[in-house]
Amino acid sequence: MSVKKIVVLFSGEGTNLENIIKKLHKKVINDCHIQLSGAVCNKENAKGIDICKNYNIPIKIIKHKEYISREEFDKKVVECILSFDPDLTVLAGFMRILTPVFTRHIKAINLHPSLLPLFKGANAIEKSFYSDMKVGGVSVHFVSNELDGGETIAQKCFQKDDNMSLEEFKKKIKELEFEILPQAIVKVLND
Ligand code: GRF
Repeated sequence: MSVKKIVVLFSGEGTNLENIIKKLHKKVINDCHIQLSGAVCNKENAKGIDICKNYNIPIKIIKHKEYISREEFDKKVVECILSFDPDLTVLAGFMRILTPVFTRHIKAINLHPSLLPLFKGANAIEKSFYSDMKVGGVSVHFVSNELDGGETIAQKCFQKDDNMSLEEFKKKIKELEFEILPQAIVKVLND
């Protein structure tokens, strides 16, 4: 049996982080023992930090405001990720634009709450909800130098009913995120 280590990067609530812990951490899937060896967060008050503490996941907080440039911040993040020696890094709500300093050194995937290439960047859920699109969806893609632009790994979508509220739309997005991200992680670890 092989052991595969992952690291999760997040900035806020950490609901996807908790979902990964529940579904994948210390689990054997396809003859592979998956371990969440650490997490990195750029916000000292992020709720996800408590989740890490509750599940005994080593967490490192790197405040981006303390770095003079994106590159300097990325250098520190890379150093920190490498100290956990992961097979794969997972961005689950990590709200930073990354530079080549990161992408050159780290094999990473990102979760995005829209059907890419539509609605890249911030406020994707709102942009997608208020658009003319009849479907909403989520994507997981490899992290590249282009924001939300790397190769797509998986996508899931749902019908956007005319009478759906933004809250209902967000709930559906979350539901699909909880399915797609663990599946995509397993897929990439197995490839
Ligand atoms: C998710 O909607 C994800 O798609 C986006 O940021 C959100 C993170 O939510 N990139 P959470 O912190 O996992 O609750």
